[in-house]
Amino acid sequence: MSIVEKFMSMEYGPAPEDPREAVVWLERHERRLGHFIGGVWQAPVEGQYFDTTDPSTGETLASVAQGSAADVDAAVAAARAALSGWQALSGHVRARYLYGLARLVQKHSRRLAVLETMDNGKPIRESRDIDIPLVARHFYHHAGWAQLLADEFPGYAPCGVVGQIIPWNLPLLMLAWKIAPALAAGNAVVLKPAEFTPLTALAFAEICQEAGLPAGVVNIVTGDGATGEALVQHAGVDKIAFTGSTEVGRAIRKATAQSHKRLSLELGGKSPFIIFEDADLDSAVEGLVDGIWLNQGQVCCAGSRLLMQESIAEPLLEKVRQRMSTLRLGPPLDKGIDVGAIVARVQLERIQRLVEQGVAEGATCWQPPGLAMPSRGFYFPPTLLSNVHPSSIVAQQEIFGPVLAAMTFRTPREAVELANNTVYGLAGSVWSESVNVALHVATQLKAGVVWVNSTNLFDAACGFGGYRESGYGREGGREGMLEYLEPAWFKHAPIRTSAPFAADPPFEEDAEDATPPIDRTVKLYIGGKQARPDSGYSAEVRGADGRLLGESPLGNRKDIRNAVEAARKAEAWGKSTAHNRAQVLYYIAENLSQRSREIAGRLAAVVGQEQAEEEVRYGIERIFAYAAWADKFDGAVHNPPMRNVALAMNEPIGTIGIVCHSEAPLLGFLSLAMPALAMGNTVVGVPSERYPLIAGDLYQVFETSDLPAGVVNLVTGRSAELLKVLAEHADVDAIWCFGDEASSGEAKALSAGNLKQVFTNEGRAIDWFNVEQGEGRWFLQHAVQIKNIWVPYGE
Ligand code: NAI
Repeated sequence: MSIVEKFMSMEYGPAPEDPREAVVWLERHERRLGHFIGGVWQAPVEGQYFDTTDPSTGETLASVAQGSAADVDAAVAAARAALSGWQALSGHVRARYLYGLARLVQKHSRRLAVLETMDNGKPIRESRDIDIPLVARHFYHHAGWAQLLADEFPGYAPCGVVGQIIPWNLPLLMLAWKIAPALAAGNAVVLKPAEFTPLTALAFAEICQEAGLPAGVVNIVTGDGATGEALVQHAGVDKIAFTGSTEVGRAIRKATAQSHKRLSLELGGKSPFIIFEDADLDSAVEGLVDGIWLNQGQVCCAGSRLLMQESIAEPLLEKVRQRMSTLRLGPPLDKGIDVGAIVARVQLERIQRLVEQGVAEGATCWQPPGLAMPSRGFYFPPTLLSNVHPSSIVAQQEIFGPVLAAMTFRTPREAVELANNTVYGLAGSVWSESVNVALHVATQLKAGVVWVNSTNLFDAACGFGGYRESGYGREGGREGMLEYLEPAWFKHAPIRTSAPFAADPPFEEDAEDATPPIDRTVKLYIGGKQARPDSGYSAEVRGADGRLLGESPLGNRKDIRNAVEAARKAEAWGKSTAHNRAQVLYYIAENLSQRSREIAGRLAAVVGQEQAEEEVRYGIERIFAYAAWADKFDGAVHNPPMRNVALAMNEPIGTIGIVCHSEAPLLGFLSLAMPALAMGNTVVGVPSERYPLIAGDLYQVFETSDLPAGVVNLVTGRSAELLKVLAEHADVDAIWCFGDEASSGEAKALSAGNLKQVFTNEGRAIDWFNVEQGEGRWFLQHAVQIKNIWVPYGE
């Protein structure tokens, strides 16, 4: 018998963690906890409570308050009242509070870890060694951002009152990810923990008291989805930050569309765990244990799809099965346990149902034979599903349980295709001893986080968040801070309830001075070619005095579809070098400059001579600015406190639909399209409805500027109609809509389908001639999504 086999066959005695401190804490609260509002405990207005249980035993731990709309209202009022005092403090003083919270989390770490395990069912080893240390690290890191706020984010202001809703899988860690950056940026918060796991949030409330945090800066309201909904709907909330299921994320997108609430969503995932034949297979198998069996697989970024190179599939699966046989499942407070309890019966049933469906669809199910299952509590054995078809439900849907779905691939290309064959895009793990293969694949994965030869690593300095239907926004690092800040000018810009130039001006034909109309008909511009509209219709375009200037096509659904297809085909633009993109942009500026007189002359008929000349002049400058940015807005290298670098890469979002406002037809278009192009996106643009003839000038410039076909497409027509088609189109990745308040709301509501990223002016007036407002980092930040690629180094 080898040493390993001997070791494997050893019997473990129980090593239970002492729960006394947590029990004392529960008893001190008489196992009945209210909301934490305005710095004090408050009983729920409607007097309703619900039980939270220990999923490893089914026993009730405590009753907690069921938050009603009235409770949410009181919490929002307390946060609002605290806001000005909190914001008036210096960054240094806020830093001291955050530092104090970090210290206290460490001081109470044992009690917090035990309480977390009791409420959630996760092994104590995880809550003690992963969750709680990361919570403390998050507050330390953000104490730093509070200190540096004025220097690092000049011109930015906090959002205000922030509503935060978190899930049950990493309860205190998700709280820290939400509360630490919000406070560092100067916001006040109302947080609603998940109904299955409210206890550590309430223990944290007490820590806020102990830290002397000003009353109302942090409020905790407990309750279920209805409480969450009341928070989302509350008019006094300026931003919602949500982590949870994609389904609820989508509902929140719709529910907040008609408001000015900012929104960040961290949603589900179906992350690939890709193993190449040259990988260190033993390390990869250990990684897999952390990837899918951490927290019983109830992790949004769990490596739930095992993609194996065909040549090593069988030996690898054998190693996986062997390793699975050594996993210890049982009472999570036992320090020797690897797999604890599932959070609740409903989740257990969901896992069972999905596995059964997977098997019915042809998967082979393997579970460690002879695994002893506890007689009570909610447990599910570690499970391997092999022979999974890529379209099977278990390859597509988030199971959120200890279930691995295995598939094979032959080439790196096939691996990438398979990996990206899902609506999600949260994380990925790539295992290969070849740095070329690993990084080549990492850069092609549609995911916000990629771990090379590692998995499930997190740090406060490194942004975390998704692509596609895994949501938008980042938590952690500089990018996470930006989710809680807004340009100060924007926050205070006046809101327009209707477009300033909506109606056609009246025009009385004067018989004596009947100048013949200018016959200027422009076309659509799709895939680098001028195209007639599918409808065959066009609309008259008139000048400021009502004179007929020409005709522009009325694009429709079909035209948008063609334009999106062309934009998709042109995505090699995103892979071209930033230097090359800059060269094309400079060339566009050069050609615009050469035609400046004629373009300004025509534009003058609509906006007046002075503005027309300014639009061209500023337009050239703006293109130059983004040509300059193209190779300078380029990400960062983070240094988390382990032997890893995290390469924070700014990647294009993909195809962006841009609906322009009417007031500055040329400059407005350039101000939006150029940052998108500089960062490697392709564009389907809907030019100003007031002066769509600008499309003709634009495509003539593009045609002579080496811009590859399809990178910019222009579809003129009724903005509202075209916005709808763009926002509902599944192949459009983001919508930028700059118009009145109603169109901003429409853009957000209509794009909930595939959770497009939406960037709007919220109907606020933007002075495009003011460089602070019309140009720079704010636009660039919206033109990229950050992917953190973690690369280990050293011994
Ligand atoms: P959920 O998305 O319903 O719950 C998450 C949080 O949102 C909880 O605090 C809940 O009370 C709240 N909530 C529920 N409905 C709401 C609404 N209409 N408005 C505002 N807040 C609302 O997740 P659930 O039901 O607990 O789990 C279901 C599935 O969701 C899981 O099986 C898993 O697949 C996925 N999930 C994903 C998570 C992630 O981190 N990505 C976390 C939790 C669940």
